[in-house]
Amino acid sequence: MESCNWVLLLVFFFFFFFFITSSSSTYGTHTTSPLEVVISNTTAMHRNFTAVSEFRLINRQKLKDCSASSPSLKINIISSNPSTFSDDEFVTVTVTGVSNPSNDDWVAMISPSNSNVEGCILNELYYLQTGDTSKLPLLCHYPVKAQLMRNDPYYISCKKKECTTIGQCTCGGSIKFHVINIRSDIEFVFFSGGFLKPCLVGRSIPFRFANPYMPLYGHLSSIDSSGTSMRLTWVSGDNKPQQIQYGNGKKVTSTINTFSQDDMCSTVALPSPAKDFGWHDPGYIHSAVMTGLKPSSIFSYKYGSDLVGWSKQILFSTPPAGGAADELRFITYGDMGKTPLDDSEEHYIQPGALSVIKAITDDVNLNKVNSIFHIGDISYATGFLAEWDYFLQLISPVASKLSYMTAIGNHERDYIASGSVYITPDSGGECGVPYETYFPMPVASKDKPWYSIEQASIHFTIISTEHDWSQNSEQYQWMQKDMSSVNRVKTPWLIFMGHRPMYTSSSGLFSTDTKFVEAVEPLLLENKVDLVLLGHVHNYERTCSVYQSVCKAMPKKDAIGVDTYDNRNYVAPVHAVIGMAGFTLDKFPDTVNNWSLKRISEYGYLRAHATRTDLNLEFVNSNTREVQDAFRITK
Ligand SMILES: [Fe+2]
Repeated sequence: MESCNWVLLLVFFFFFFFFITSSSSTYGTHTTSPLEVVISNTTAMHRNFTAVSEFRLINRQKLKDCSASSPSLKINIISSNPSTFSDDEFVTVTVTGVSNPSNDDWVAMISPSNSNVEGCILNELYYLQTGDTSKLPLLCHYPVKAQLMRNDPYYISCKKKECTTIGQCTCGGSIKFHVINIRSDIEFVFFSGGFLKPCLVGRSIPFRFANPYMPLYGHLSSIDSSGTSMRLTWVSGDNKPQQIQYGNGKKVTSTINTFSQDDMCSTVALPSPAKDFGWHDPGYIHSAVMTGLKPSSIFSYKYGSDLVGWSKQILFSTPPAGGAADELRFITYGDMGKTPLDDSEEHYIQPGALSVIKAITDDVNLNKVNSIFHIGDISYATGFLAEWDYFLQLISPVASKLSYMTAIGNHERDYIASGSVYITPDSGGECGVPYETYFPMPVASKDKPWYSIEQASIHFTIISTEHDWSQNSEQYQWMQKDMSSVNRVKTPWLIFMGHRPMYTSSSGLFSTDTKFVEAVEPLLLENKVDLVLLGHVHNYERTCSVYQSVCKAMPKKDAIGVDTYDNRNYVAPVHAVIGMAGFTLDKFPDTVNNWSLKRISEYGYLRAHATRTDLNLEFVNSNTREVQDAFRITK
């Protein structure tokens, strides 16, 4: 979504090294060094690259040394245990001894607490921007989250005044942080000066998690179309094999995966967050496949080990087998991300994610939903690795209960010179590595994230819009082979999914890639794809039966007024953009393309119900739970 200004990058590259070689004699005085000028300019570059909040940029600020300004300052942490955090809790952080409360005072949650600039790459040169690196190492690691002290309504007015016997008074306040088990210890650090001119005033003692090895955030996925095997993937600080115990006495041992800073992408000119200040140790990602299950059935499982602990017992359902006569109910959306449960700032917040995940959780608990398809832009961690843990925790109420299938998006994969089609740095340097590790899909091999899967009457062809899709590319040939070999007697429906849209009314940054459309759209028609579900644009939009921007057929209203596409006489696919699951919504322009039949800029998700002759789709507004659009495709 964000365009990369290569000219700017190139200019920066040359100027960076020019100033590095010419600035050493001036640094150490209080005059602004050329290097500082260059570094402060990177703020603008980072803003352009990820288009996010002031908080996102704080590691680009020069810190002032003000550590002696509040000698009586104390930061106290109240958690459910006396000295440790549980796996998921709201922690109260109380700051006392503040001489002059300000609207610009804030508290950062930083992990690990022993973050040290000496371990940072290019620390001497690159971290001059943090001021005195020997005294102020903290912003070497980006805060997981932060809050302004004024979130306590009594803070600025000093209603919590404390006075000494000699009449010297100070102020204080308390704020709550949602803390989940991210394994490494945490400290809370008090800054004045706001996010743009941070000044370190004081820090808490480090707090540990009671069990940093706890197995957490288990999420399921299908490994094939049989409905008899399900993969569970989970996170733990423990690098020894663990187990899933499931069904009646079955068990399977995990394989263990992880990734390191060395696996992240970066550039010399502008280090990526993933490689640099956004890095957070992911622990160990365990994965194991439960086999011998029955399709469309309910089983229970728990995961972990006697050594480090077990998850609670969880009930999950298997999807129907491909070709089975069963009905299929699935939920699908793109561009979800996460919303903090507290009042914190984070580097990238998706305001609608919480509402959507709540609505989906209710849907899954109340109705028989078989599976979920999340079609790209998954967590928006984009190089701030601790945010994957928060995302996995957010989706766990549903992802631990049914098959959570994914497609890759630009915010998981794209990075300069890393093999992505688009060379924007939208993944923040992750270049697909954390995504592939957290969401192992049934793909042919590493960094080839396209696959197909069948459930009941539907064949799903799921592609990567971020990898080469041009004619004669490996992915193109796979698409051609996959879709042309679908047995339409076994699975009458063919649904095509990926991340970037072919039809959207949004323009500018969101306009479609005409090369992508020219290359891939003919395959959809040739193979009689019924429905195309894509995201990336943050709203909901449905088309007519469309090909090359021309409506080949229009739906007709059925008896209850639902738009119905008659695919007994197939003419072209129906497209829907479904990127409305969390990211700030995109508005629609006033002009309406004739192929665009429905446009909704609200948070929500698409709910599908398929029989062998009817494919029913509903756009559900997650705030009101209203169905704001319904359409049918019939055979
Ligand atoms: Fe996207």
